[in-house]
Amino acid sequence: MASGSQKSQPVKFQAPKGTRDFYPDQMAVRRYIEGVWRKTSINHGFDEVEGPMFEHLDLYTHKSGPGIVSEIFQVFSGKDEEELAKIRGGAAAPYALRPEFTPTLARMVASKAAELPRPIKWFAIPQHFRAERPQRGRLREFVQWNVDFIGEESQRADAEVIATAIRALERLGLESKGITVKISNRDVIDDALRSAGVQTENIAAAMELLDKVEKLDRAEVQRRSQNMGLDITRFKDAIALKQTSANEAIAALEQARPLSVANGSLIDNQVISLISELGASGIVHWCEVDFSIVRGLAYYTGTVFEIIAEGERAVAGGGRYDKLIESFGGPSLPACGFGMGDVVLGNLLHDKGLLSEEHYLQDLRPDAFVIAADDEAAKHLPRIVADLRKQNFHVRHSYKTTRNVGKLLGDASKSRARNAVILGKELAENPPGIVIKNLQSGEQKELPLSSLPEELRIVQQQR
Ligand code: HAM
Repeated sequence: MASGSQKSQPVKFQAPKGTRDFYPDQMAVRRYIEGVWRKTSINHGFDEVEGPMFEHLDLYTHKSGPGIVSEIFQVFSGKDEEELAKIRGGAAAPYALRPEFTPTLARMVASKAAELPRPIKWFAIPQHFRAERPQRGRLREFVQWNVDFIGEESQRADAEVIATAIRALERLGLESKGITVKISNRDVIDDALRSAGVQTENIAAAMELLDKVEKLDRAEVQRRSQNMGLDITRFKDAIALKQTSANEAIAALEQARPLSVANGSLIDNQVISLISELGASGIVHWCEVDFSIVRGLAYYTGTVFEIIAEGERAVAGGGRYDKLIESFGGPSLPACGFGMGDVVLGNLLHDKGLLSEEHYLQDLRPDAFVIAADDEAAKHLPRIVADLRKQNFHVRHSYKTTRNVGKLLGDASKSRARNAVILGKELAENPPGIVIKNLQSGEQKELPLSSLPEELRIVQQQR
């Protein structure tokens, strides 16, 4: 038998583990969240940027730290023999699917720093890839909103990026109850580590240990801390008092009381000035100081923070990285920012009933679903639809041959259109008429065809 006539067996494929397919409803949800992120960033004076989806692997081994490097998806072209031979010999691939945006941003700023107007306020909404074990709140591919403020040393920048994150959460319908911005500071942790016996060369490893302390068993924590001379009890004592004092300062601002000298003298200057800035921005009630937050990425310097919702993993995380741009060959530029992922946020919005169609379909509902009630009207339908679309209306219609208006009205409702427009016999008459049915209110009226755009606009404004 000729091979061409053989029927090949169908093969079923599944999306790779930890990735998502975005069908229209899921895509609408994603675009709704991204839309709020984008609008909020622009409102707060940030400009949108983007970089490549894959980068040189070294960009991440340079400063991001072993945690994220261990989760990198490596990439190679497969076309370069020399490269292939190296990989077969056990070498790492030359490229990486980006696991985060901060190194790309630092590279971009470093290479054009002289030309960029200061301060540099950028946002991006890239896709990221991490070879993590997929679980609730953690996937291998996700979208992450990045907001970064570069060139401003004062804590006003930190407060502004935090305010931007909070504003987006509020726009999505979330409230401060059950959601906390946990603020910490690596300089404070650094001091406490030193006073608990850790030498300079072990500080980075000690920070990494503190970041993982909840995930490791006790014996392992003990073994590692002994190796680096860290006395965990002394460490905790060294920061406990500062933490209490910082939270008293927050409580004072929440109750509109002035900060006392005691608050200021006990805590690091950066922490107290950040608290004052958060107070001035009216968002201090979302915040709490928690020095158990260290953050896994190695490049953070002073302030670090995470936004935590009860019972969930972090919705967002960020902080200062004052030395990163310089380490990429740029000028010495202070910087801070955060990343907010769509996965934890999506779970949170879903569980709180904040992801219904009325939220994510707001801008996607058709203005009109046009129905031809008879064959004569069907001849006019393409031109009428084309005219409306030319005027920027979102118009849909049926592709079925049925003229059963009842059935077609059912299709109109399924399309979630705001109005059904019924073309019938009247169309041939002079002046041509139509019936418009508001699918929300059920109200129905006859109109001349020429009034249709105006009527659709009125309904649009009623949203
Ligand atoms: P990060 O803490 O690694 O920070 O990620 C920030 C947020 O991205 C997390 O809080 C989480 O919402 C989301 N995320 C991270 N990994 C995953 C995952 N596997 N699946 C789903 N969501 C995830 C950074 O990436 C820093 N570069 C953020 C930053 C920007 N710092 C300063 N500027």
